[in-house]
Amino acid sequence: MAYNLLKGKRGIITGALDENSIAWKVALKAKEEGATFILTNAPVALRMGKINELAAACDTEVIPADATKIEDIEALYQQSMEKLGGKLDFVLHSIGMSPNVRKGRDYGNLNYDWFLKSLDISALSFHKMLQTAEKLDVLNEYGSVVGLSYIAAQRTFDTYGDMAQAKAVLESIARSYGARYGMSKKVRVNTISQSPTKTTAGTGIDGFDAFYEYADRMSPLGNATADDCANYIITLFSDMTRMVTMQNLFHDGGFSASGITDGIIDKMKN
Ligand SMILES: NC(=O)c1ccc[n+]([C@@H]2O[C@H](COP(=O)([O-])OP(=O)(O)OC[C@H]3O[C@@H](n4cnc5c(N)ncnc54)[C@H](O)[C@@H]3O)[C@@H](O)[C@H]2O)c1
Repeated sequence: MAYNLLKGKRGIITGALDENSIAWKVALKAKEEGATFILTNAPVALRMGKINELAAACDTEVIPADATKIEDIEALYQQSMEKLGGKLDFVLHSIGMSPNVRKGRDYGNLNYDWFLKSLDISALSFHKMLQTAEKLDVLNEYGSVVGLSYIAAQRTFDTYGDMAQAKAVLESIARSYGARYGMSKKVRVNTISQSPTKTTAGTGIDGFDAFYEYADRMSPLGNATADDCANYIITLFSDMTRMVTMQNLFHDGGFSASGITDGIIDKMKN
């Protein structure tokens, strides 16, 4: 059911690779809720992915941009404002990649060039998108920028590797840039810490199925799906949350506040 929560709002949605991507679900719901937006992804992902199908379903266009490159981000913002007919109200940063994780590097044997790449793609790109947006004055007052995080920013999950540091930096950027952007332009910046979700980025982590099942059993409501995450993101883009900023918001079925659950006890007994 649609509520017209984003009626008249304009935005940019990064990171839709295929129909499993969290960003893919966000795009479909943003359309349903009345928003107009531009889709974007890294040029290499555009060649591999199915984003044009999504663009057709959302009646919109795709503008390629590597989120680590300032000149790409500048062009993305400028072209998006031209095509959508004005300043923007929301930006979704749904971007993450670690070459160390992807290539199965143990945490005691990291390649540091790759570590820097993980940080650049998964965290600094958030700062680059925020700083460029502020400089070009892209966002309307009470505009909302959302990034996606994971609880490995606070607790260790062995095979999450250097992405744990990337997520800690991402969440810290949301606080620091949120403070600055709130004062300068009344723009909101938050991260959502999402349950393990079966996407290309998620399932690239070694032992993902165990992560997934453990989290599901440790969460009183079970794991939050990508669809649930998209619904939550829509509320953060809407005027219903206009005083929420600088937060890392757990969207995890209660995982982050659970000590032990019946689901885990049952599993351990059997
Ligand atoms: N899947 C999970 O379990 C899970 C849990 C918590 C948080 N997250 C986070 O959610 C976000 C979205 O991931 P997803 O799970 O939907 O997976 P996904 O693989 O569908 O999306 C990741 C996206 O990042 C894009 N990307 C990579 N490098 C880029 C670059 N240089 N410039 C622009 N885009 C680039 C990819 O092309 C891809 O579309 C990520 O930040 C991820 O870490 C995922």
